[in-house]
Amino acid sequence: MNIIEAIKIRKSIRDFKTDPVPKHVIKEILQTAIRAPSAENSQPWEFTIIAGDILDKIRTANIEKLKSKAPPHPDLLSKGLPRDSVYRRRQIEIAKQLFGLMDISREDMEKRNRWMELGFRYFNAPAAIIIFVDRSLPYPRPIFDIGAVTQNICLAALHFGLGTCIANQGITYPEVLHEYAGISESKRIVISIAIGYPNWDFPANSVVSNREPVENISTWIGFE
Ligand SMILES: Cc1cc2nc3c(=O)[nH]c(=O)nc-3n(C[C@H](O)[C@H](O)[C@H](O)COP(=O)(O)O)c2cc1C
Repeated sequence: MNIIEAIKIRKSIRDFKTDPVPKHVIKEILQTAIRAPSAENSQPWEFTIIAGDILDKIRTANIEKLKSKAPPHPDLLSKGLPRDSVYRRRQIEIAKQLFGLMDISREDMEKRNRWMELGFRYFNAPAAIIIFVDRSLPYPRPIFDIGAVTQNICLAALHFGLGTCIANQGITYPEVLHEYAGISESKRIVISIAIGYPNWDFPANSVVSNREPVENISTWIGFE
């Protein structure tokens, strides 16, 4: 698969086969992904890769927190988008696409809640990669670098027939990850990636998210 093809076919996968992902495969993905650039080669990324019973315990604890309406940790980057903005419009657009595919109506709170829980369960993936940075790093300095390595992981995963979903939902309650995965409190958890072999029968996995055409978001200067 060439680079252009990989970038074009990567998409968020929100349901997986139960087949485990071998440790050596995830290791190779990470070894490749850390070729990502980082400011002054600071390489701020650190990973904890979780599977098996511990991942199941984390899923359960996340759902308990969610159901008890525990507030998201203040570190969480996903604050709301401005009302009536183009960004909010795009957010609504992808939600409508996904709900349409999953046959979830606006009023069906039961189905909506079940859908929301999926992210907190790492979409039932056989493994989750948790990415974090040391709290001594001035924030938000490492975020750009984490974005680069995250995209590399998602692209490299394709080479092994794996799918991924980057998920803020999976780190909404970092205290769960500190407790069950033993990630030190001195680390700031930035993002999670669910990883596994895609279940292509799951309707939402056929989604193709929209993109604004380049001409709408670019200004060209000094070209013919
Ligand atoms: C930082 C970040 C956080 C995300 N968090 C979630 C999440 O919590 N739940 C989810 O279903 N998708 C999440 N996504 C996936 C986006 O919804 C998805 O990338 C976007 O809709 C574009 O779709 P695509 O990845 O299929 O191209 C996240 C993506 C990014 C980059």
